[in-house]
Amino acid sequence: MRENIIIVGDSGFSRSIRWLIEDIDDHAQNTVYCVVGHVVSDVEYLGQGHHGLLGTFKYLYMHTELWDSLAMGVGAPGARMELSNRLLNAFPARIWPSLVSPRAHVSDRVHIQQGVIIQSGCRGFVDASVLEFALLNLNVTVGHDALIGRYCNISPSVNISGGCVIDEGAMIGTGAQILENLTVGKWAKVGAGAVVTKDVPPGETWVGIPARKVEENGG
Ligand SMILES: CC(C)(COP(=O)(O)OP(=O)(O)OC[C@H]1O[C@@H](n2cnc3c(N)ncnc32)[C@H](O)[C@@H]1OP(=O)(O)O)[C@@H](O)C(=O)NCCC(=O)NCCS
Repeated sequence: MRENIIIVGDSGFSRSIRWLIEDIDDHAQNTVYCVVGHVVSDVEYLGQGHHGLLGTFKYLYMHTELWDSLAMGVGAPGARMELSNRLLNAFPARIWPSLVSPRAHVSDRVHIQQGVIIQSGCRGFVDASVLEFALLNLNVTVGHDALIGRYCNISPSVNISGGCVIDEGAMIGTGAQILENLTVGKWAKVGAGAVVTKDVPPGETWVGIPARKVEENGG
């Protein structure tokens, strides 16, 4: 089966998603992915017009016969939520495949929802769940029974221990460690390199070793 796929976004991150799709395609047994190009939400993001940029979302409406599915090429959790909701409403029958790198080592006992992206080098996931539009970037490890919520952005080389809950919209910075059975609340942020030893409440930003809350007036 051939699937024509369009990537939402035109940043450097979106180009890494293109590389992922092409890598999946190279290893595919059945589905053949063909990347049609990239689209951006609004004219203000047309920028320099990188190679492969098709235009704004208008392109999706005008050329419905040229594409089958979409991939999220924007990293920020809030934007992932806003853009996926917008496009799911506009094109409810189109597919957001879960894109799992052939170079990831993912247990078959993992529940993966639509729009999830799992990059090269990720490992683990026994009895874990990865919910809609979550992103696991390069070399992330996820322990048994962990739950990664919708729209989360898990940066490269993060280690999430067994039993953790990373709730909807959370952002975990590169190289952070989340110790076992902890919860990172909705839309919270964990800084690069942090070691999280306690639950992080929703909406807060925690940094450092051991991780502590960043107060809004600094430090
Ligand atoms: C935690 C983070 C989200 C905070 O961003 P922010 O809200 O803009 O906060 P600021 O940069 O104003 O920093 C606030 C304070 O936390 C400190 N801080 C920020 N990030 C930190 C980190 N990772 N570790 C330790 N301290 C950190 C700052 O030095 C500052 O301290 P000060 O007030 O004493 O000067 C951000 O610094 C971060 O780590 N993002 C992750 C980036 C990443 O991993 N990207 C992956 C790309 S693939």
